[in-house]
Amino acid sequence: MDNDIEHMENQDIAAHLQWYLDSGVDEVTGDETLDWFALAPKPKGTPTPILKTPVLSPENIAREATLAVSNCTSLTELKQAITAFDGCSLKKLATHTVFSDGNPDSKVMLIGDAPGADDDRDGIPFAREHGQLLDKMFEAIGLQRDKDFYITNILPWRPPGNRAPSAEEITICLPFIKRHVELFDPELIILLGGVSANSILETDSNITRLRGKWHEYEIQGRKIPVFPLFHPAYLLKQPKAKGDAWRDLQNIKARLEDKSQ
Ligand code: URA
Repeated sequence: MDNDIEHMENQDIAAHLQWYLDSGVDEVTGDETLDWFALAPKPKGTPTPILKTPVLSPENIAREATLAVSNCTSLTELKQAITAFDGCSLKKLATHTVFSDGNPDSKVMLIGDAPGADDDRDGIPFAREHGQLLDKMFEAIGLQRDKDFYITNILPWRPPGNRAPSAEEITICLPFIKRHVELFDPELIILLGGVSANSILETDSNITRLRGKWHEYEIQGRKIPVFPLFHPAYLLKQPKAKGDAWRDLQNIKARLEDKSQ
């Protein structure tokens, strides 16, 4: 076969690579292409009948997730239980279960949507580019990640190709973040972006409508103040929104100062 790539325009090459990224292929494992199917051992003799395993609905898997974490009494136990959970297919493709970062003894909990490629590699949420902007935003109101806040995500595993999490994946993983909030017991929750805000506030309103106001999240009979904020990834693409984000950060700062008086 001709080397097709030599006949491709730059934009075709870019579209080709994007297709790989969208399919979840974001790492090169070698210089030569390899036909993995040809390497698989060929079945011998009579084929064994394929037993169909019943497919569980996301709601049923979510019930299993709830059971898996309901007896956890500490963040360490929760991390172990989530890491051992095999009900979400995202885990099969992920390098790490990305649990949290920051100070587990602080009062402020930030919740993003899902780890990206770098976070999956490092095992830390908001590890690189988005994390750097996030840290700068919070440093601007005097909060440091290792001291003043704690950060986690709705999903502990990276969706391939950095696509948005599906409704089913969110349904399956919601029991994890609920238990995470119960065990962390924050004074304030900041929701980073639409996926996080929609999942926690159980609404499909757009982040542009939800941000800028305080909401409440009720858990175990306690109402926790919740503030949705633009996601750093959105601010990197839409720098014009940084003015709104700045006002929102001042709002959070004022609330924290009120609480400390
Ligand atoms: N990294 C994360 O951990 N969460 C996000 O929402 C985005 C990047």
